[in-house]
Amino acid sequence: MERGKMVYEGKAKRVYEVAQPDAYLVEYKDDATAFNGEKRGSIAGKGEINNRLSAIFFQMLEKRGVRTHFLGHVSAREMLVRRVRIIPLEVVTRNIAAGSLAKRLGLEEGGKLSSPVVEFYLKDDALGDPLINRSHALALAIATREQMDELEQSALMVNEILRAFLLEKGLLLVDFKLEYGVLPDGRIVLADEISPDTCRLWDVNTNEKLDKDRFRRDLGKVEEAYHEVLSRVEAGGTL
Ligand code: TMP
Repeated sequence: MERGKMVYEGKAKRVYEVAQPDAYLVEYKDDATAFNGEKRGSIAGKGEINNRLSAIFFQMLEKRGVRTHFLGHVSAREMLVRRVRIIPLEVVTRNIAAGSLAKRLGLEEGGKLSSPVVEFYLKDDALGDPLINRSHALALAIATREQMDELEQSALMVNEILRAFLLEKGLLLVDFKLEYGVLPDGRIVLADEISPDTCRLWDVNTNEKLDKDRFRRDLGKVEEAYHEVLSRVEAGGTL
């Protein structure tokens, strides 16, 4: 597929215009960053794996009634998506204490949470993506009350679907980050990506980390972890 103008380059993806006016081409890169870009590196094969995994997850979610931006597979590193205006929020859902939640609240990593936690972070690199609450989002006119409700309900629904799906593959969905976009007609759709870059995934038996924390925390076997997730997700069918 012919690429038009590049409209966005992020840390892990590039987005291009295409002839189809309501679509974008997304190219997944091997580049990896952490800590707001302070740590930089590359994970061989990550672009292809994240493209493949995101496509599988988006198709699986669509089948179960979650509207996403996914339109189709293009090539090993590329997918076609709907053009949306990205809502500048990172919607993080957590099932088990880990990462910044464990740190902020003094919880042990791996500690049980009685119910899933949904958090909103403002997408702003200069500020380091600060945690905000719903009233901040309303006050900053980032989203309406109804849209915030929809984001939270959608994140919880995605959590239930993904958690069950991954558990069957021997993966514990510890936490994950979603981004949403708005279509020209005002409807909200799930956008961005779902991959080991944006999820914490632990082996259900050993709690071994099989996600980007291996890169963030210099745990080694980074590429192997991404390959392991893909092969487990693809084993036994995906839909
Ligand atoms: P955190 O514990 O560092 O706040 O991360 C929560 C989840 O969000 C985790 O699954 C990783 C994901 N995440 C991203 O996708 N992008 C980011 O920039 C950060 C900080 C976390």
